[in-house]
Amino acid sequence: MSALPPPEEKAAAVRSMFDRISPSYDRVNRIMTLNADQRWRRALVRKLGVGPGDVVLDLACGTGDFTMLCREAGAEAIGVDFSGGMLRAASARHGECSAWVQGDALALPIKAGTFTVAVSGFALRNFVDIAPAMRELARVLKPGGRLGLLEVDRPGNPIVRFGHGMYFNRVVPLVGGALADRQAYRYLPQSASYLPPQDELVRILVDAGFHRVQKRSPMFGAIQSVTAIRR
Ligand SMILES: C[S@@+](CC[C@H](N)C(=O)[O-])C[C@H]1O[C@@H](n2cnc3c(N)ncnc32)[C@H](O)[C@@H]1O
Repeated sequence: MSALPPPEEKAAAVRSMFDRISPSYDRVNRIMTLNADQRWRRALVRKLGVGPGDVVLDLACGTGDFTMLCREAGAEAIGVDFSGGMLRAASARHGECSAWVQGDALALPIKAGTFTVAVSGFALRNFVDIAPAMRELARVLKPGGRLGLLEVDRPGNPIVRFGHGMYFNRVVPLVGGALADRQAYRYLPQSASYLPPQDELVRILVDAGFHRVQKRSPMFGAIQSVTAIRR
């Protein structure tokens, strides 16, 4: 049975789902990925060369992992998310109230050319439409600004894909349902179907104003780590 909301209800359904699971989000994430999620974020922050002098937007920041890793690397960073629950969890966990801004990825409350770097983790499949979100990222980045996107993916190798499918489609809903919220952790694997194929994502990014799009595939292709440069 589908756990995906109808298109006209997606934004409200996604926001209330993340409000609901915000208290347990970090714990369940770490358990599900065996702590690897922070390794993937760190690798992307390193690849983007985030450091002192950078001003970073963490789009759909959730509980703020990327924001804090960028701050640890010496950059200024803020996180934007439309879920009040996730932002309260970020603030409770890290403090730094000024870092957390409530806003919609499709209409960011931020002026053009503000950031040198933008990152976004595990958010693309939650947007109602990916192209306008990428156009917003291009708008708020300075020319030459660096973009980094982290998302789930489908492994290319059929054997790995089978094992990954069993884990993602069967174990994740069971464990997530037991530890947090049944409906949310049924949505999680199914929401991967919203992700465009690689060529389509590249086209969306190029149309939005990016070039030099590159993709890495950690975890045998179960994760995609995409970088691009604002033209
Ligand atoms: C799976 S969580 C990822 C959180 C965090 N980036 C991470 O790496 O753990 C997806 C986040 O996207 C946020 N989100 C989804 N659609 C959004 C939108 N249109 N505008 C802002 N935030 C959005 C959700 O509220 C949620 O916090």
